Amino acid sequence: MAKIIIDGRKVEAKNGATVLETARELKIEIPTLCYHKDLTPFGACRLCMVEVKANGEWKLTSACTTPVTDKMEIKTGSDRVKESRKFAAGMLYYKYPGDPVIRDMAGRMGVEVDGSGPAKEECILCGLCVRACREAVDVCALKFEDRGPGRDVEEPKIEFDPAACIGCGSCAYVCPTSYVKMETSGGKRTIWNKVFRMAQCRVCGRYFAPEEQLDYISRKTGVKKSKLMVCTSCR
Ligand code: SF4
Ligand code: FES
Repeated sequence: MAKIIIDGRKVEAKNGATVLETARELKIEIPTLCYHKDLTPFGACRLCMVEVKANGEWKLTSACTTPVTDKMEIKTGSDRVKESRKFAAGMLYYKYPGDPVIRDMAGRMGVEVDGSGPAKEECILCGLCVRACREAVDVCALKFEDRGPGRDVEEPKIEFDPAACIGCGSCAYVCPTSYVKMETSGGKRTIWNKVFRMAQCRVCGRYFAPEEQLDYISRKTGVKKSKLMVCTSCR
């Protein structure tokens, strides 16, 4: 265990835990957008900034990517922290003024928000979908595409590989702005504009998973697809 001081409280933190995980254990609220507890932290949104004392000096750092160390001192609610989060939220709002989640977050961080314009869900490049596809599903149908020199260098974008996607929906589930849309109706699911045929449970007849997802699980596990054709409620 690491002995730390967080917001003036002396506590013990798990070795290897991040500042964010430690703060959450202690019910200290730190805002996040690009973080998911089951995925590798990415440090993209900068909303989780905290102050950490290192070599006698207070420095701003992202709580989701910083591991706690013995004798660390942390401030999660100082004026500097609030200013830094407001700045990060302001940058996001400047880029995505129509996104309802960004508007809400920016407002909560003290940014003046004009909510009168049309609302539009945006991809804020948090990378959660890319990480979910790669780390949780082990598929890699999504990746950041750097548009390269001579083009729009500043703005990477998400590239989708339709041949690799199995239609599992994990990317839509983790997307914080609901930009990734998934529609499932009857025997069809559409995600990233790819249409999947849904498999029917052989007990209750309900459509429960894309055929391609079951093919993938069968290939990975060696379990025959016929054995997978039962939904979770009928198992
Ligand atoms: S739906 Fe496709 S892109 Fe999204 S996580 Fe699943 S496999 Fe990856
Ligand atoms: S949640 Fe830490 S940088 Fe986004």
